[in-house]
Amino acid sequence: MEYSLLILILVWRFVNCQSPPISVRIPQSMIPVPPGLDRSLRNEGLTFGNCKVVINDICPDPDVNFFLYTRIHPQVPQAIRVGGDPHVSNLTKSAFNPSNPVKIIIHGYNSDMYLSALVEIKDQYLKTNDYNVFAVDWSPLGESPCYLAALWNIKHVGICTSQLVSRIKELGVEDIHVIGFSLGAHIPAHLANALLPYKLPRITGLDPAGPGFITASKANKLDKSDANFVDIIHTNSFIQGLVEALGHVDFYLNGGIIQPGCWAERRFFACNHHRAPLYFAESINTQLGFWGWPCPSYFEYILGNCPPKDPQIIMGDHAKNSSSGVHLVITESVSPFAVGKYTGPAIEILRQSEMHRKTILRKYRTTIEEYLDDDSIEDVTYNRTELKKYFNERLADELMPLVTVI
Ligand SMILES: *[C@@H]1O[C@H](CO)[C@@H](O)[C@H](O)[C@H]1NC(C)=O
Ligand SMILES: *[C@@H]1O[C@H](CO)[C@@H](O)[C@H](O)[C@H]1NC(C)=O
Ligand SMILES: *[C@@H]1O[C@H](CO)[C@@H](O)[C@H](O)[C@H]1NC(C)=O
Repeated sequence: MEYSLLILILVWRFVNCQSPPISVRIPQSMIPVPPGLDRSLRNEGLTFGNCKVVINDICPDPDVNFFLYTRIHPQVPQAIRVGGDPHVSNLTKSAFNPSNPVKIIIHGYNSDMYLSALVEIKDQYLKTNDYNVFAVDWSPLGESPCYLAALWNIKHVGICTSQLVSRIKELGVEDIHVIGFSLGAHIPAHLANALLPYKLPRITGLDPAGPGFITASKANKLDKSDANFVDIIHTNSFIQGLVEALGHVDFYLNGGIIQPGCWAERRFFACNHHRAPLYFAESINTQLGFWGWPCPSYFEYILGNCPPKDPQIIMGDHAKNSSSGVHLVITESVSPFAVGKYTGPAIEILRQSEMHRKTILRKYRTTIEEYLDDDSIEDVTYNRTELKKYFNERLADELMPLVTVI
């Protein structure tokens, strides 16, 4: 019941922000991210306000960069240049080994490839096996406070990344796994469209971004048509993530909204959101494993109709490509997070987490309201008339539906 109220509050708040001029609310918690690249050199090109907006879709683009980590270069990556023409690519001059599987990691809004939770995924992969781990860095096109511009730019990032995937495929690699976090989890949707008729074997979406995607069409957001297997990890639904099931299999961690241990964190919302890549990173080498039990839908869970039951399935890197449906997973509040199957020690955690969930939901409702009314939230207003000065009518009209639900 408390959940239903929470949803109502949130839906009401979202709907209330709907009328033009469009207002993009950016939580302060999303702003301080580790500095990575020198962004000052990349300010040329079309901008809207201080926001860089790509309209020409020319790849390769100096704002979309690819870096390769291997066991030979585990810490300092090799820059990889790719283009439409295979001869322009210098992939074969790098440590790339076509007999090893490929992982492609894509960061989100107001972030870059050095986000520690994403670096952790790379480190865990190289610890287990000899992989080709690529990091896509599109940070100049996804800077704060330009959420609207970033929403627009992800299509371009997807198209440029398709050149990387094409060059990788030409070298005979079949095992290609794309992992996207937050807004970066929707980039593989555009990547997949650009690669058609080829279909990627696997896409993992780590807490796919919510704002702007609630009613977005399938072509613009990650869904199960984008790869042979699409698995999703939800940790901060409603706030920074999307609640709806998007993949073949969707895992809702600890209820999918609030993660245990995050209440103690100063950056509460970022903590919940960043848990998705942290859980995924741990899943690569964990002994216990993250196991999920089935639930007909997230809504059924909210109604309290989903007690743990078999068959349980494995979440994360080792997820089976035959798995499907909505699954619920519980974790510890600190790393290592995995608790294994719910039989054994996990039962006590589950019992406590259910009690905790009820307490927290009471607390949460107030916090949500405080969060939405907080002065520290930046209000960035985009004016439609202003927009049309920068874009022609058609582009402005295409851009609008993406954001009107925020
Ligand atoms: C590939 O080319 C880019 C751009 O010219 C260069 O920065 C990078 O070092 C090259 N990488 C390798 C592995 O040669
Ligand atoms: C699932 O994975 C197996 C082995 O990794 C592979 O042979 C099979 O084609 C995959 N199925 C799909 C639907 O991707
Ligand atoms: C939008 O911008 C135009 C031109 O700069 C201005 O005339 C108009 O008043 C603005 N509209 C709103 C709602 O701020």
